[in-house]
Amino acid sequence: MRLQGKVAVVTGGGSGLGRASAIALAREGAAVVVGDVDTAGGEQTVEAIVGGGGQASLVDTEVADAARCEALMQAAVDTYGGLHVLHANAGVSLVGQDGPTADMEPAVWDRVISINLSGVFYCCHYALPRMAASGGGSIVNTASSMAHLPLGNMDAYAASKGGVANLTRSMAASAAKHGVRVNAISPGYVETSMTSVIWEMPEVRDAFALGHADGLQTPEEIADVVVFLASNESRSLTGAVLTCDRGWTAFKMPDIVRQFG
Ligand SMILES: NC(=O)c1ccc[n+]([C@@H]2O[C@H](COP(=O)([O-])OP(=O)(O)OC[C@H]3O[C@@H](n4cnc5c(N)ncnc54)[C@H](O)[C@@H]3O)[C@@H](O)[C@H]2O)c1
Repeated sequence: MRLQGKVAVVTGGGSGLGRASAIALAREGAAVVVGDVDTAGGEQTVEAIVGGGGQASLVDTEVADAARCEALMQAAVDTYGGLHVLHANAGVSLVGQDGPTADMEPAVWDRVISINLSGVFYCCHYALPRMAASGGGSIVNTASSMAHLPLGNMDAYAASKGGVANLTRSMAASAAKHGVRVNAISPGYVETSMTSVIWEMPEVRDAFALGHADGLQTPEEIADVVVFLASNESRSLTGAVLTCDRGWTAFKMPDIVRQFG
């Protein structure tokens, strides 16, 4: 129970990485406020936590709307008496619309940046003073391996995640005076609804699996990293952008090398 007595907000907690993170944070004793536009998914996460004996509630949240992000952070304070952990995780990948810069509609760019990057800024902006008033805490922003190694052909997504990584590094300096650590995680490829286009094609799935040591990732293993960053065990870390990607960005092993391995 490393987070006993703490209050956490998880955006995008209605699915995938965010749901696993919300459940893992609650298991460690945190009261969790799930913020998501998908209220049905968010309710399922809340039910899973409450059913397991934890504390959780849902706030219908559009992270591209600054006022809704402020309302989410205030709801945590009003409901549970403070705010100590933020997992700013909500994001979109607009496969089929996001593309090469020359071809992408500017409206697609605007939408991806407003959710994936501005959404993280808004949540951190409104969380920081409330975390300071609660005695300090830890922010975990979800970046991506694409912040380090873009796939190409998804220029808006890659730019948004690069922005999250550098916002995290820069923000860590000033957040320290609020008693808040700020780190980011960069997962590799995790089987969630966002990446279903990969998993639905067996040959694509196999190719992505081969790029990771020991295959594809699960939301639960990423949630373990979030719990570590939220807890006091990571007290030395701030301004870190942690690649937790089973080596996806660390090495590239061509098939000719792999067959001798
Ligand atoms: N799945 C992967 O392989 C992978 C890898 C690296 C990073 N990520 C990042 O992890 C995060 C979670 O992705 P996931 O794979 O769990 O996807 P997912 O689609 O399963 O979950 C995303 C959640 O965010 C919510 N959301 C989307 N837009 C929102 C908005 N405007 N306001 C509020 N909530 C919104 C969705 O409703 C959903 O519940 C994203 O930031 C994504 O970019 C995912």
